[in-house]
Amino acid sequence: MNSGHDLREKLRVIGANLSFRYKILVLVLAIIIFMGLVMTLQARAVLGISLGQQLDQRSLATARAVAAQGSELILTGNLYGLHQMLIDMQASGKDIRYIFIQDSWGRVLSHTFNGGFPVDLLAYNQLPPGKKESQQLLLTDEGLIHDAAVPIFGGRLGVVRVGLSEVGLRQAVFAATARFVMMITIFSILFIVMAYLLTAILTKPIRELVGATRAVAQGNLDTPVAVSGHDEFGLLAASFNRMIESLRRSRAEIEELSNLRSELLDRVVTAQEAERRRIARELHDDAGGALTAILLRLKALEDKVSGEKEVAGSLAEIRAALGEAMAGLRRLALELRPAVFDELGLTGALQQIARDYSDKFNLKIHLAARGVEERLPPKAELAIYRIVQEALNNVIKHAGASEVSILLEPRGEVLRLIVEDNGRGFDLEASGYKKGLGLFSMRERATLLGGKVIIESTPGRGTAIYVDIPLTA
Ligand SMILES: Nc1ncnc2c1ncn2[C@@H]1O[C@H](COP(=O)(O)OP(=O)(O)OP(=O)(O)O)[C@@H](O)[C@H]1O
Ligand SMILES: [Mg+2]
Repeated sequence: MNSGHDLREKLRVIGANLSFRYKILVLVLAIIIFMGLVMTLQARAVLGISLGQQLDQRSLATARAVAAQGSELILTGNLYGLHQMLIDMQASGKDIRYIFIQDSWGRVLSHTFNGGFPVDLLAYNQLPPGKKESQQLLLTDEGLIHDAAVPIFGGRLGVVRVGLSEVGLRQAVFAATARFVMMITIFSILFIVMAYLLTAILTKPIRELVGATRAVAQGNLDTPVAVSGHDEFGLLAASFNRMIESLRRSRAEIEELSNLRSELLDRVVTAQEAERRRIARELHDDAGGALTAILLRLKALEDKVSGEKEVAGSLAEIRAALGEAMAGLRRLALELRPAVFDELGLTGALQQIARDYSDKFNLKIHLAARGVEERLPPKAELAIYRIVQEALNNVIKHAGASEVSILLEPRGEVLRLIVEDNGRGFDLEASGYKKGLGLFSMRERATLLGGKVIIESTPGRGTAIYVDIPLTA
């Protein structure tokens, strides 16, 4: 039971792995061999029966002929002639194994056996008195013998016995079988060749379709399947081509939309930066200028009233407060538009912002920027600066961290930025964090430059932000 199940399972696996073409070949071959075997066995059986009947008839006919010719020889006592006649008669048929004549007392008068008469034979196929013939099949060492007994002169002169061997018959059946087997072999070969060619023709469209699906899987939507006709394959190919066409259209639409999106994002970011620059300039030039003028006049006023200690003290206090306000303004302007870029480059700007945040928020910030001494494209520098800025803002706002490390270094084709804190972290599975704009805009800035952002965070274990920007961006 188990082994039967195993065999079925094995056959199923073989069947599943065999190509359509070989399945047909195996099927055709199995049918031909099965039919050939059935036909051969059937033909052998029919041939055997009919040849057996022929042997029966011939043994009887031979016995009758011997009885007719022998009666006179027996009457005249010509035993030599009788023997000669038996020899001649045996020579007339290849499969006549023996002929012998018994007289009416049962004694053997003449026979064709060379090395002595086998007396056992007399016990078989004895002709009952008054009967015209008798037949029996004898099983001997030499195979089956069809034995016929016929009376001579109504039995008064004795009995003729003739035995026909089946050896010839078996040879004939064997020869016929051999011919059948040969024909089956030839037919099998012919059928295999035909089935092979036929399946090649039949499976060609399928193979083409398979090739086309592979091409589509690899993203090639430009080569339709070249299967024509209105049969099932033709219809399949046509609907396949329609499918490719609609895929191609939607891919083009998606590409267009994504191009549009990148373009819009680019514009938004550019506009945002321009606006920040403008505000920074105004803060610096107008407000900064005005405050500086006030500061100078305060100084002059202070000098004038140097005699009046109280007034001079108040003025000094105002000047100090003004100085702080101006420093705050400068910091704000710097955040909006890091002018340090122009003098110090990205590394300098990052050092500056790290210093600022660590002073302002009592945070330990380790900054390591290796191998980025050369200037990067301005857009990439700005993106990295803004990403670090937002990451630090998030640390201040959400993390409650005591330490942050910022690492910037080229890795192969990309510039890798890692900002890591030891704060409380957050759950990336929960969707709540997607409401903010900060992480989203980090992604957008990186994507715009062909880069990517990976965020790793576990509640209670801090947050790490990995950013890759192509160096060619
Ligand atoms: N370093 C961090 N540590 C802990 N939580 C963080 C950190 N960075 C981000 N988060 C979580 O992810 C959320 C989304 O951050 P995101 O910067 O996108 O938005 P936001 O900071 O809340 O608002 P916005 O940046 O728009 O002012 C935050 O609300 C916070 O819960
Ligand atoms: Mg934020």
